[in-house]
Amino acid sequence: MGAMGEQLSTRRAPHLVLQASQLATRPYLVIALLSLFVAAATGSLLRFGLGWGMPAWAANFTAIRHAHSHLMYFGWATLALMALIWHFLSLYSGQALPRSVQWQMSVSALLALLSFPAFWANGYGLTQIGSASLPLGAMVATLNGITWFVFAWLYWRESRVLAVRPLPVQMWDSAILLLVLAAGGALGLVAMVASASQSILLQQAFLHLFLDLFAVGWFTLALLGLLWAWVGQRTELPKRLPVLSLALAIAPTFFLGMPPSLIASSLFWGAAIANGLAGLLLFWHVAGLLSRWVHLTWLMRFGVAMLAAHGLMTLVALWPGVWIWSAQTQLRVYFLHNLLLGWLSSVLLALIVDYLGLGQTKWVRWLGWFWIVGVGVLLTALLGLGMLQFLPVSSLALLRVGAWGSLIPVGVAGVVVLWCLLPIADASRLTPSV
Ligand code: HEM
Repeated sequence: MGAMGEQLSTRRAPHLVLQASQLATRPYLVIALLSLFVAAATGSLLRFGLGWGMPAWAANFTAIRHAHSHLMYFGWATLALMALIWHFLSLYSGQALPRSVQWQMSVSALLALLSFPAFWANGYGLTQIGSASLPLGAMVATLNGITWFVFAWLYWRESRVLAVRPLPVQMWDSAILLLVLAAGGALGLVAMVASASQSILLQQAFLHLFLDLFAVGWFTLALLGLLWAWVGQRTELPKRLPVLSLALAIAPTFFLGMPPSLIASSLFWGAAIANGLAGLLLFWHVAGLLSRWVHLTWLMRFGVAMLAAHGLMTLVALWPGVWIWSAQTQLRVYFLHNLLLGWLSSVLLALIVDYLGLGQTKWVRWLGWFWIVGVGVLLTALLGLGMLQFLPVSSLALLRVGAWGSLIPVGVAGVVVLWCLLPIADASRLTPSV
């Protein structure tokens, strides 16, 4: 066992601390899985809507897309990442989680769930409630944003006790810095709604500061930290890995998400070079994971392969003209889902399944394969839609393949949620790795 593994085992929490952390974080992981199921089913509804038309009871495609993406961001990814970070942090510190963390997680979970109905009807627009017109989506997003600051503050307070900050903790430090920066974008969007500002430039800058930094920055660094913490329990970790340099390279990349017509070419090239550098630094992590391949589950390996595909795309985007061309295609949806579904959700699901003690069961391994096939089909269809001009297939055919393929991850999420909620999910069977 390596340095990180030793770090965990020498600081191993007494049995009671472990049990307390398990009991404290499990409900939030179940809520996160439920959010994954509901948001994925909504994504599937949108995919069928694109292939056959939206049903009358769900006519507002844009608002429902917001409901989908916000529940995925707040209820699935953020809640699950926070819960797992709290779990591992309490193992590193050897201290049970304080009551304030319970409060923060409960409020975060509640507000994340509320984002779904708040966005469903009108997205970021106004909803009539009695005599008042309220921007429900913007209001709930703001409240969610506040809980991230509380999480960041509690994390800083709880992690201060560590005499040495192990690599995963350093990754979370950087991830949380980017989370706070991204939250600034969400608050900026809300301020624009409140002040009725019409600036397209500001709107796009805030939107991508939030959407892109949240996904590439907070999600990716936090998840890499969790994966390294998990791997560190099984084998030695690399001596050196880029952490702060990776976060700094990722920070300006959100400019690339903005429409090319809105940003100056010097700004574009600065952001594109930082993006390429971030891609290379991500490869460093991928290479470290590749050399520990035998310790990863298949679902994790699939996720890491999708992260490598993301790294490759950051380099391809450096080729002159590629970015402007890709902005006129559907490739953005593919980029987003490769990262958020292929990398983030696959590895997060694998970690949660292991944490909940499901990893050893044979049928869960099969579910992992179903997930890989379903997500693989969906991502291939999305890539095809982005490259349509080079392919001899109709967009409708690809849209419909994507729609049918999307049902598989929805089904997998549903089965895992059912397993957690049914009485067979006996708490005594939970055996998270220490
Ligand atoms: C079964 C899995 C999923 C399906 C079927 C799905 C489906 C969709 C669809 C149909 C769209 C709209 C695309 C368009 O406008 O052309 C979309 C957008 C989006 N999805 Fe997903 N998605 C899935 C998973 C995820 C996950 C796991 C995340 C995040 C963790 C996510 C985040 C987003 C975001 C951020 C957008 C863009 C929202 C916007 O531009 O307003 N999706 N998704």
